[in-house]
Amino acid sequence: MKLTTLQVVLGVTLAAAEAQCGHQWTAPGPDDFRGPCPMLNTLANHGFLPHNGRNITKDITVNALSSALHFNKTLAALMFEMALIANPAPNATFFTLDNLNVHNVLEHDASLSRSDAFFGNNHVFNETIFDETRVYWTGPVLDANMLANGKVARQLNSKAFNPKYTFTSTMEQFSLGEVIAPIVAFGDLEAATVNRTLVEYFFRNERLPTELGWSIRPGVVSLDNISKLTGIMGNATSLITTAQPVVSTRDLHAGSFF
Ligand code: HEM
Ligand code: MG
Repeated sequence: MKLTTLQVVLGVTLAAAEAQCGHQWTAPGPDDFRGPCPMLNTLANHGFLPHNGRNITKDITVNALSSALHFNKTLAALMFEMALIANPAPNATFFTLDNLNVHNVLEHDASLSRSDAFFGNNHVFNETIFDETRVYWTGPVLDANMLANGKVARQLNSKAFNPKYTFTSTMEQFSLGEVIAPIVAFGDLEAATVNRTLVEYFFRNERLPTELGWSIRPGVVSLDNISKLTGIMGNATSLITTAQPVVSTRDLHAGSFF
């Protein structure tokens, strides 16, 4: 592929910006651990988390989520505590990205971009699965409905074709958190929307979409932001409509419909 001068200049500028912050993106090597979470993989690729994907402590998690995404300390610490159960060692003080791959602990079926464990690798990005989700991303700006439709479609597909399909109410809460995550990282917290291009780039490259113009939000993300968005997303997964239908049976009987 021949690079244009502009691409070279942009690439060099981006590399310089990332290097200045000490968080240049580097692809994982063969001995580095990576897991089912595109964001933790991304943060490891940028060196916010250990690049080898090992020994992720509470301090490391809080610093990473705070400096890369402006999560407040309480939220980041809570997320670390939830992750810790993935390390089977008693009284563990860290987890690894590989710990997260164990099926039905934190990793679950019907992921947006990964295969169900029953069908194969449950943690490497899978474009075919991602396409199943993206069919429902019908505009350039993703809203709660589009994101929810992708989630529900993946669940329906798994429920129909995976004889081991499992989705507990705890998994549903995690899953809602994962579906809103792109909004939290790259989108508008108030409008509950996010630019589709940024999200696709992030999933495919496990890289912060800096070269597409994204930069860290100025404000801080709190548990309150997450709870509100999770509520919006939960409602958006319902297949029941609430608006009044335009035509009533009375109109039909009176013949006024025609
Ligand atoms: C998925 C863990 C933070 C975005 C997952 C999964 C795990 C996980 C185990 C796999 C679930 C599945 O089977 O699909 C964690 C832990 C975190 C963390 C332990 C912090 C300590 C974040 C953050 C974001 C994020 C901060 C972005 C703001 C996502 C997304 C998915 C996901 C978008 C869905 C991937 C898919 O369905 O293909 N995470 N995560 N995560 N995570 Fe994280
Ligand atoms: Mg999964």
